[in-house]
Amino acid sequence: MKDSDKIALITGITGQDGSYLCELLLAKGYKVHGVVRRTSNMLRSRIEHLRRNEEIYDQQLFLHYGDLSDSTTLRRIVGDVRPMELYHLAGQSHVGLSFEIPESTCEEAGMATLRLLEVARSQPQPVKFYHASSSEIFGNASEIPQTENTPLRPTSPYGCAKAFATQLARVYRESHGLYVCNGILYNHESPRRGENFVTRKIARAAARIARNLDNELVLGNLESQRDWGRAQDYVQAMWLMLQHETADDYVVATGETHSVREFVDAAFAVVDLPWEKYVKHDPSFDRPTEPARLVGCADKIRETLSWKPAGSFRQLVHEMVEAELAAIDPRF
Ligand code: NAP
Ligand code: GDD
Repeated sequence: MKDSDKIALITGITGQDGSYLCELLLAKGYKVHGVVRRTSNMLRSRIEHLRRNEEIYDQQLFLHYGDLSDSTTLRRIVGDVRPMELYHLAGQSHVGLSFEIPESTCEEAGMATLRLLEVARSQPQPVKFYHASSSEIFGNASEIPQTENTPLRPTSPYGCAKAFATQLARVYRESHGLYVCNGILYNHESPRRGENFVTRKIARAAARIARNLDNELVLGNLESQRDWGRAQDYVQAMWLMLQHETADDYVVATGETHSVREFVDAAFAVVDLPWEKYVKHDPSFDRPTEPARLVGCADKIRETLSWKPAGSFRQLVHEMVEAELAAIDPRF
C-alpha cells in the first residue's frame, strides 16, 4: 500500500481498543481519523497525549464529531475522509449494563453497524470494514473451545445485538461483495480498561487497598470464567485482518481460561495482601444470565495471519496492578 493510501477511520477511538489501535496505525504511517461524540467533558483521557502532541494532532490524527445514532453525519464523515480501512469499534460495551439499557445497546451494537455497512457499501472507492464482534455471541456455547463455526447462543441483550451485527456483516460480505471482517474477540484488558469492567475494578481496588485508600472490593460472580488477553495484542489482530487479501471472520483469544476468583487472587498477590479479608459479594453485580465459561480457539488467525499474543495471564494482572499503583504515586 502507498503511504498516501493509508487512511483509516476509527469509530470508538476514545475507548480502550480505539486508543491502542490509533497508536498502532500512527506508528505504521497512517493518517488516522476518529469519530468522537460530544460530551460535557472535553478531556478524552486515553487519547489526550496524542491530542496534545502538535506533530500528531491535525497532522496525522484528525477528530470528527459524530454519534452512532446520527447516520447523516456518519455518511458525511466517511464521504469526506474516504478511508481505505474503517474500524467500527464504537458502542455501549458493558454486558451487565445491557440488561438495564437494552434498547440503546441494541441500537448502538446492532442498528448502527447496519447503518455503517450501508455507508461503506455506497462509497465510490473500496472500503475495508472491520466489525468489533465478540465472544458474547456464543453465550451458552455448545462447544469448548469456540471457533468461527460455533453456533450463536447469546445470553444478554449485548450478545444478541453483536450476533445480529455479526450475521449482517457476513451477509454484506457474501451478498454485496463488501470487504468486511468480523473480529470475534474474547475479553482483552489493559490499564486503559473502563473502570467498571471486572479486571480493572479488581486491579484498582487491590492498589487502593494496599495504599490504604479503600478497605473493600465488592464483586458479583467470582466463579465465572473468561479468556483474558492483552488489548495491545488484540488491536494488532484487527489490523492484520484488514491486510489479508480476502475478508473473513476470526476468533481472537488466548485459549486459556481463568475465573474471576483467580484474577482476584493474582492481583492481591502483587500487593501481598490476603484477598479473602477484603472481597465481598453483592448480588446486584450478578447478571440475570451469562456465559459460564468462554474460551476461544484462535488457530485460524494464528495459521492464516501469523498472529500470536504476547505475555501470560500473570503478566497481564501484574501490569494492571502496577499501573494502578503508579497512578496513585508515580514514584512506585
Ligand atoms: P470501550 O472502551 O467501552 O469504548 C467504546 C467506544 O465507543 C468509546 O470510544 C465510546 O465513546 C464509543 N461510543 C459509545 N457509544 C457511542 C455512540 N453512541 N456514538 C459514538 N461513539 C460511541 O470499548 P472497548 O473495550 O474499546 O471495545 C471496543 C469494541 O469492541 C466495542 O464495540 C466492544 O463491544 C467490542 N469488544 C470488546 C472486547 C473487550 O474485551 N474489550 C471484546 C470483544 C468485543 P466515549 O469515550 O465517548 O464513551
Ligand atoms: N463488570 C463486572 N463487575 N463484572 C463482574 C463483577 C463486577 O463487579 N463481579 C464479577 N463479574 C464477572 C461478570 O459477571 C463476568 O462473568 C466477568 O466478571 C467479566 O465481566 P466484565 O469484565 O464486565 O466483562 P464481560 O465478559 O461481561 O464483557 C467484556 O468482554 C466481552 C467479550 O467476551 C466486554 O469487554 C464486552 O464488550 C466484550 O464483548
